[in-house]
Amino acid sequence: MKKLLCIAHRGASGHEPENTLSAIEKAQVLGADWIEVDVYAVERELLVIHDLKLERTTNGKGIVTEQPLSYLRSLDAGKGQRIPFLWEVIDLVDKRMGINVELKDEKTGGGAVVSLIDEFVGRCGWSYEQFIVSSFHHDQLVKIRRLRPEIPIGVLVDKSISDTRLGEDLGAYSVHFRLKGVNRALVCDAHRRGLKVFVFTVNNLKDIKRMSVMEVDGVFTDYPDRVVSFQKDIAFP
Ligand code: G3P
Ligand code: MG
Repeated sequence: MKKLLCIAHRGASGHEPENTLSAIEKAQVLGADWIEVDVYAVERELLVIHDLKLERTTNGKGIVTEQPLSYLRSLDAGKGQRIPFLWEVIDLVDKRMGINVELKDEKTGGGAVVSLIDEFVGRCGWSYEQFIVSSFHHDQLVKIRRLRPEIPIGVLVDKSISDTRLGEDLGAYSVHFRLKGVNRALVCDAHRRGLKVFVFTVNNLKDIKRMSVMEVDGVFTDYPDRVVSFQKDIAFP
């Protein structure tokens, strides 16, 4: 049985407020291999937050991309944490885990993400392979690919085989399936096309085992500790 890569979804979001620096740090402490964070562009800065609306995860109100940066940065994103800049997340991780940056909307600014990754590769000893840029907005991925082909891209898949074909056409590194929609045929199809398969969001042991048996390459989880202990206790005793 091959190792299932453990990707902490929005950081260790089952333990700490999602997409905050404390969730990122917790993911590392729990032994995650990678983290996944969600990103929007506001006033030419990249901010880490999942929803377009502020209400669910912060004490603020309104649409993220319509608020001044100063207001967004003043908010509590849980346990006193602020909405982080993407550069703060990369700085905190400091090459201890890989980082999957999910571009949340069609205006997230692939160019800004590329520049930021370039900067960390050029100045701080990161390599492009320590990043994956993913999105449901596939046109954004095309843009990234054109700008910097060295950056691995991940195609977020809502449906099926047509998306895996797109992944192959784009020269993507990986396809990311929803737990509900994934099956062995899709995994085989993606592997045949040379794509890695990552599945979200996999939180209970039964599903972790199922994904491992299905030979997916990695899972996004809110509880990295569960995937890590599965590897230790069951797959690789
Ligand atoms: O990237 C995997 C997963 O995070 C995509 O869905 O809604 O949790 O961002 P969502
Ligand atoms: Mg996400």
